[in-house]
Amino acid sequence: MRISVIGLGRLGLVHAAALASLGHTVVGVEANTQRVRKILDGTLEMHEPGLVELVRTALTDGTLDVTGEPSAARGACAHFLTVGTPELAPNEGFDPSYLENALRSLVPSLQPGDLVIGKSTVPPGTAAALAAQLHRESPGAELAWNPEFLAEGTAVRDTLAPHRLIYGVSSLEAARLLDEVYAPILDRGTQRVITDLATAELVKLATNAFLATKISFINTIAQLAATSGADALQTAQLLGADPRIGASHLNPGLGYGGGCLPKDTRGLAHYAQHAGAIEAAQFFTQVDTINAAQRQHIAEWVIAQLSGRQDSQVAILGASFKAETDDIRESPSIALAHALMSAGLRVRIADPVVTASRGEDSRLEFVRTAEEAMREADVTLVATAWPEYRRLNPAALLPMVRRPLIVDTRHCLDSEDWRNASWDYRSMFNLSLH
Ligand code: UDX
Repeated sequence: MRISVIGLGRLGLVHAAALASLGHTVVGVEANTQRVRKILDGTLEMHEPGLVELVRTALTDGTLDVTGEPSAARGACAHFLTVGTPELAPNEGFDPSYLENALRSLVPSLQPGDLVIGKSTVPPGTAAALAAQLHRESPGAELAWNPEFLAEGTAVRDTLAPHRLIYGVSSLEAARLLDEVYAPILDRGTQRVITDLATAELVKLATNAFLATKISFINTIAQLAATSGADALQTAQLLGADPRIGASHLNPGLGYGGGCLPKDTRGLAHYAQHAGAIEAAQFFTQVDTINAAQRQHIAEWVIAQLSGRQDSQVAILGASFKAETDDIRESPSIALAHALMSAGLRVRIADPVVTASRGEDSRLEFVRTAEEAMREADVTLVATAWPEYRRLNPAALLPMVRRPLIVDTRHCLDSEDWRNASWDYRSMFNLSLH
C-alpha cells in the first residue's frame, strides 16, 4: 500500500521506516528541510537504536522517500499525522496548531476514500475537531485515531512489535484499511481493539499519566522507606512483584523526564481542569509536583554537602532523560545541573551521545566520558542509567576526584564495588548528612 507520513520527528520517522520495512511504499513529508537532508544522507538528527539501519535500508530499497513537499502525499490512501503536540506554555495544555496545519497541507492531496490517521498524543475532542475540519475541506476523506505507545530507546522494536493496536474509527472501512496497513503485525497475533475517537485519544494520555503516577508513587514510598529504615529498592521490587501492580515504571530515583510523561501528565491536568473535574486536575498536578521535587531534594542535599567550599565541582553522569537516547527534553539531570549552578556550583555533565545543546546555559560544561566529568569533582551524581556507567572502575577513578562521594540516583551501580574501593556510595534514598 502507498502510505504518507506527515512529520518525521522521533515518532514519525520511526513509523515511516517501520511501515516501509513491512512492505509498504512510504513517503515521509517533513517541513524542516535540514532534517529532510539529513535523513536522505542517512545521518539522523537523533540517536535511536536500530533506526539509522532501518531508514538506510528503506531508502536504498526505494520503499521510503522523504521530502519537504506536501503534494508528494498524493496517491497514498493512508496518511499518518505524526507531528508534535507541544505545550502551549507550561500548564496551558496542548498546542493543536501543528496538527491543524499538517491536515491543511495534506488536504489538496487527498482523494475520496482516503484515510487520515492521527498518531500524536492529544486530549479527547481534538480528533473530533480535526474530523470536522477534514469534513469541511475534503468531504470524501475520513479521520481515524491510532495512538502510538513507543518508548525512546526501544522505538523500532515497540513499533514493529507493539503490545496492541488501538483503532479509534468512525467506520468499519477505516478499520479494514488499518488492518491492511498493519497486516504483518496482526498476522503474528497482535491484539487490536476497535473503539471511538475519544477513547483512542484518552487511553494514550491516560497510559502516560499512569506511568508518571507509578513513578511519583514509588518515589513517595521510597522517601517513606528512607525515613522508616525500610529498604527503598526492595520495597519497590516487592511491590512490583505483585502481578496486580507490575514492575514496570516502579524504579525510584530522580524522577521522569522526556517529551511525553511530563507534558502529558500536565496536559491531562489541564484538560481535567477545563472539564470541571477538579479532583482529577489536582491529582495529576500533584504527580507532576512530586516529580519536580525529586531533583530539588537532591540539589538541596548536594548544596548542603558542599557548603563552605568555594568553587566546588560537581560531576553529573548522564544528560539525556534516560539511557539509549540523546533526548534532553525535560531531562531531570539537566534540571538538576541548573539547580546546582544557580547555587554557584560548577557542573560538568557527561553523556555518551548528548553534546552541548542549543540554548543551554554556557556555564554547563558537556563532556563525553565519566572520567572527564569526574576530574577534581567534589561529588559525582549518576543521573542517567547508561550501561557504560555500570562498567566504571571505582578504584581507577578514586585518584581523579577531590572527594570520593557518589550518589546513584538511578540505582544502576554495584554499591558493594564502590564501597569496597573506598567510595562514599549513597543511593538516592540514603542521603542523611554525616
Ligand atoms: C513514554 C512511554 O513509556 C511510552 O509508552 C510513550 O509512547 C512515550 O512516553 P519514554 O518517554 O520514551 O516513553 O520513556 P519511559 O521509558 O516511559 O521513561 C520515562 C521517564 O521515566 C524517564 O526519564 C525514565 O528515566 C523515568 N523512569 C522510568 C523512572 O524514573 N522510573 C521507572 O521505573 C521508569
